[in-house]
Amino acid sequence: MIGAGTMGAGIGLCFARAGYEVTLFSKTRAGLDRAARHVERSLDLFVSEGGLSSGLADAAKKRIRYTTQLKKALSDAQFVIESVPERLQLKKDLFRKMETYCASDSILATNTSGLSITAIASACAHPERVIGLHWANPAEFVPLVEVIPGKRTSKKVVDVTYRISEKLGKMPVIIRKEIPGFASNRLQFAVLREALNLVAQGVVSPQDVDRVLKGGVGFRYPWLGALETADLGGLDVFHAIASYLFKELSAADTPPSFFTEIVQSGKLGIKTGAGFYEYEKNSSEAILNKRDRFFVRQLKTMKEISEL
Ligand SMILES: NC(=O)c1ccc[n+]([C@@H]2O[C@H](COP(=O)([O-])OP(=O)(O)OC[C@H]3O[C@@H](n4cnc5c(N)ncnc54)[C@H](O)[C@@H]3O)[C@@H](O)[C@H]2O)c1
Repeated sequence: MIGAGTMGAGIGLCFARAGYEVTLFSKTRAGLDRAARHVERSLDLFVSEGGLSSGLADAAKKRIRYTTQLKKALSDAQFVIESVPERLQLKKDLFRKMETYCASDSILATNTSGLSITAIASACAHPERVIGLHWANPAEFVPLVEVIPGKRTSKKVVDVTYRISEKLGKMPVIIRKEIPGFASNRLQFAVLREALNLVAQGVVSPQDVDRVLKGGVGFRYPWLGALETADLGGLDVFHAIASYLFKELSAADTPPSFFTEIVQSGKLGIKTGAGFYEYEKNSSEAILNKRDRFFVRQLKTMKEISEL
């Protein structure tokens, strides 16, 4: 696992829980210490919510090694995931090195949020073994992973990546065309665009946008997707509504000015203590813990229901 930040630690943990030996690489020792604390905290949550025995949690923890040496991390790796900052040149440089240090049959995956897999793979002599594997934050709790073949990725690499994702207990989806934002960010940002539009037009407050999503539209989403919801509601009804409503929805191609102003004023959300909401000093750890506890419970319920 190359990169042990917000995403890398959680991704590494998923592999360790599934029985794989994992090496987490970060540029700094401090980054590795943070990753180890992240792993420990998430395992504690799985155990305290009854989703994992402490014996299995301990075994998972022992399967993770930590290093600041790239060559050491890569030399015996069969499946590598890169999750370093979202800069094309940085990723290309890294993939070039990965190819040199790794065995010739290892798979090289990137957790890019939206850069072209084909562009990243262009740095490699063997682009057929490069693939996108896009996780959602927090990676150890959210089931979805998007499997994104580049133009030259081999079918075998796609199949193996899909099967490994299933083995991790994830919910893989193949993205059949390389398209910016893949599928999950396109859906997420389509909702965000309309949410911002409703606030900008003064239709509802920021708090109420979130209430509409959590109490209504989003309440159904863990169990019914958008298309299942339409099927159950009646496609004639949904078609009639789409016919007059689509043209009313925001088609803005830039963020609304009030959003830009908030960002420019330094309000970046929980990490700066304010965003659309205000956060009390030193409250972020408790808020993220609460979020993750809820996610573990939701994951457990989803698994129980799908086993029925
Ligand atoms: N944060 C999210 O919600 C999220 C979700 C899905 C995908 N992603 C994608 O995952 C990737 C990583 O995001 P993150 O939020 O985990 O970042 P992060 O900043 O938390 O972690 C980055 C990691 O990369 C390492 N790193 C930094 N510069 C490096 C370099 N020059 N060479 C090698 N390693 C270096 C750091 O040591 C750190 O371990 C990005 O491509 C991002 O778009 C992020």
